[in-house]
Amino acid sequence: MCGIIGYIGKREAAPLLLNGLKRLEYRGYDSAGMAVLNGQMQVLKQKGSVGNLEELLNVSGTVMLGATMGIAHTRWATHGDPSDRNAHPHMNISSDIALIHNGIIENYSSLKKELLSQGYEFESDTDSEVLVHLIDRVWKADPSIGLEGAVRQALRHVDGAYGICVVSSREPDKIVVARKGSPLVIGLGDGEFFIASDAAPIVEHTNKVVYLLDGEMAVVTRDNYTVKTIENVEQQKRVTELDFSLEKIEKGGYEHFMLKEIFEQPEVMRDVMRGRIRVEEGRVQLGGIEDYLDRLKQAKRIVICACGTSWHAGLIGEYLIEEFARIPVEVDYASEFRYRNPIVTSDDVVIVISQSGETADTLAALRLAKEKGALVMGICNVVGSTIARETLCGMYTHAGPEVGVASTKAFTAQVIVLFMLAMALSKGRTISQEEIKLNLRELAEVPEKVARILEQNDAIREIALKLKDARNALYLGRGYNFPVALEGALKLKEISYIHAEGYPAAEMKHGPIALIDEDMPVIVIATRDNTYAKILSNIEEVRSRKGRVIAIASEGDRDIEQLTPDVIFIPQASAALLPLLTVIPLQLLSYHVATMRGCNVDRPRNLAKSVTVE
Ligand code: M6R
Repeated sequence: MCGIIGYIGKREAAPLLLNGLKRLEYRGYDSAGMAVLNGQMQVLKQKGSVGNLEELLNVSGTVMLGATMGIAHTRWATHGDPSDRNAHPHMNISSDIALIHNGIIENYSSLKKELLSQGYEFESDTDSEVLVHLIDRVWKADPSIGLEGAVRQALRHVDGAYGICVVSSREPDKIVVARKGSPLVIGLGDGEFFIASDAAPIVEHTNKVVYLLDGEMAVVTRDNYTVKTIENVEQQKRVTELDFSLEKIEKGGYEHFMLKEIFEQPEVMRDVMRGRIRVEEGRVQLGGIEDYLDRLKQAKRIVICACGTSWHAGLIGEYLIEEFARIPVEVDYASEFRYRNPIVTSDDVVIVISQSGETADTLAALRLAKEKGALVMGICNVVGSTIARETLCGMYTHAGPEVGVASTKAFTAQVIVLFMLAMALSKGRTISQEEIKLNLRELAEVPEKVARILEQNDAIREIALKLKDARNALYLGRGYNFPVALEGALKLKEISYIHAEGYPAAEMKHGPIALIDEDMPVIVIATRDNTYAKILSNIEEVRSRKGRVIAIASEGDRDIEQLTPDVIFIPQASAALLPLLTVIPLQLLSYHVATMRGCNVDRPRNLAKSVTVE
């Protein structure tokens, strides 16, 4: 949540920071601001998108000319509404310290009371502002400690999560940064340094980065950077080379990131499998878990924890692992798991799934599972993310940066990883080598099948026309397609703001059937698998109550056309691989409905890409 970019070097800072904010806007977009130093501290901030800040900069940005260092922020509100005064940076009373912050300061209200009683005045309703006044207070109390010492001492008073960047006109050639719970990365350029909440705004300048760990601080000057713990212990940091290009994080000719990411899926799926499966040998090689595979196979139970779309992938993981590897699996919302005192022992394996690798609830579930002695494994997309680093072993999904807030390619990548995991856990135990070969062969064919579904984009757009004015929608599926029904409903509601629910089709008669009338579109996943006959009965039940059915069916199914004119056909596949196909038309349907309704598809209201607060 929220995006941070900082720069120190030889170039004009303001345009560079603005450009960085544009790349970070997917992390938060309700206000934006920047502070630069050109002899004096200059601050501009504005409610709304980075575009609004750009306009302000065009009008009054001359004051920022000549500045070759600065910090900037794009915000997603947690404390205080989206407004100019709640936008970051926040300043101390004498306006010589500026601070930007990602995260939440949990004890901010007691700190604020204390500071108010000492004469400090607050300009905003944010939790973040307490930090800048705290820094001011400790620095005034002992001027010899400097900016670095002041930040260090101030942070000792703070509970909560933060990624911060601080600058001061009293020490003008320095940016002090610190991290606890909110990611920060330093980009190492040629005679210049960048600081950001993720690599997206850095990658066009340099591919060399240093990730800060929780509890670390860095002082970045024009020609150097040093990293220490908040307790002041020097740290040796490894420089990582990023392997994704700027082109990959731009829209690549599509109107929206979401559409680009939907269409990238065949390629992404190949990337996920690349080097990991050998179809003819029936081999699955999962480097990140190889050393732990025997322990994983011996697990008494696997618990999968995740949130949102990643939780839906987890449900599919449950079906896959139980069917093939015969290990009992439970799937928990990370937010429930962490607060319900779950029974977890050292015989359990806990798998956390997260695209961003930074989701606060999933991270907390991971830490709890670790405390209880479970072997904790991660499935993450963002390389070097906190969850990826804190798990004992794991697998990256290699889906590349996902910018659209609605998760699409990350979901299918997660499902493929879970499928490969199920095969690895089954090998030599529960299914024959021949079956593994067969399953892997079918998996390898999925990208091409997905490409065929994507060719139906125009037809799917036509069907979306029939959904666009709905106020509610119901999604039904059974077996492996039940989690897909949940995911389809989530996609529709989060980007088009149409209320939608997903149900196991057989549950319809236990309540939701009461909702069905001519105004209720029902999207039914009716592929040819072992529940096909049952799902046809569900369709009849909907039709007899005048519900409008949109069906996702298997190619060659003529019967379904007798039941509804609105059918999207997908290639045949065995049940376990169907989610990778059936979800594609649902992603496209939501996308088209949302664009037809004029919604901001990539940045739906009230949502952020990475939910790093509870
Ligand atoms: O980054 P994560 O996978 O941990 O995020 C979890 C959810 O916030 C996320 O999947 C969310 O539900 C999707 N953006 C919905 O499309």
